Amino acid sequence: MSRPMVVVTRRPPGRALEILEGVADVWVWPEDTEIPREVLLERVRDAEGLYSMLSERIDEELLDAAPRLRVVSNMAVGVDNVDLAACARRGIAVGHTPDVLTEATADLAWALLLTVARRVVEGVDHVRQGRWTRWEPGLLLGVDVYGTTLGIVGLGRIGTAVARRGRGFDMEIRYTARGPKPDVEAELAARYRELDELLAEADHVVVTAALTEETRGLIDAAALARMKPTATLVNVARGPLVDTEALVAALREGRIFGAGLDVTDPEPLPPDHPLLALPNCVVVPHVGSATRRTREAMAELAAENLVAGLEGRPLPAPCPFPEL
Ligand code: DGY
Repeated sequence: MSRPMVVVTRRPPGRALEILEGVADVWVWPEDTEIPREVLLERVRDAEGLYSMLSERIDEELLDAAPRLRVVSNMAVGVDNVDLAACARRGIAVGHTPDVLTEATADLAWALLLTVARRVVEGVDHVRQGRWTRWEPGLLLGVDVYGTTLGIVGLGRIGTAVARRGRGFDMEIRYTARGPKPDVEAELAARYRELDELLAEADHVVVTAALTEETRGLIDAAALARMKPTATLVNVARGPLVDTEALVAALREGRIFGAGLDVTDPEPLPPDHPLLALPNCVVVPHVGSATRRTREAMAELAAENLVAGLEGRPLPAPCPFPEL
């Protein structure tokens, strides 16, 4: 019996390929770069399964080029790169990788929050550049974290994990979401706020919302203007949730204290981008889930999603389809 054909757009870590090769003929983009669009369009022609990264656009054009496709498995929790409605219309199952990356991503959000609030990168530069010649009472003064108010924009799995860590810092938790979440309120003494109220109240704002047409540009100039001048902003979700130009202006003019970004718009940021010249902005290259254990778990869950889809079984981590 012939085996289904699967396209993998980047070599995944861990046992993922082994899992796929157990049931399918697997073609893997051999380079350590993003697969060129024209190669992907050519390769998916006979594919029944597509194992994708967040860098590939799975849209109508790609689906038209892949008439045999039955399942798309994205090795990421975010699926803003996948046209879910188009997949649903064609009966193509879509899988993603929730849960396994929640804690690692929440850890990185906290690493950024503490780094920006306590000016860690500026301190490291100060020492490395040989400027540490004496103790100074006013050197590199930051803002407090312990005992302050944490605002979570988009309280899902990762936002809740970030908030839990905040309780260890004796923080008041405020959050926005599609609606109040009584379970989390009970567990974390968290309080629901409209976005404007949250931005005005929080000392540290962490963005963890999914990128959708409704959330694109959510943190724009008006939103940044509502934040305290002593507040920090952390984004570990997707770059386009924050208006980059407005953020550059707010940071440059000291209208907020600082920003920590794991994700940017554009992404990657060119080395001469104005954000990278600002001392109150810390940018890391989309590494929220980048621990060995987490990435292997994501890769393997994505492989299991793909195999289940090929075998006509329910996916272990299906992406909920939008209403058609
Ligand atoms: C995701 O999974 O969506 C992250 O951005 C990458 O881990």
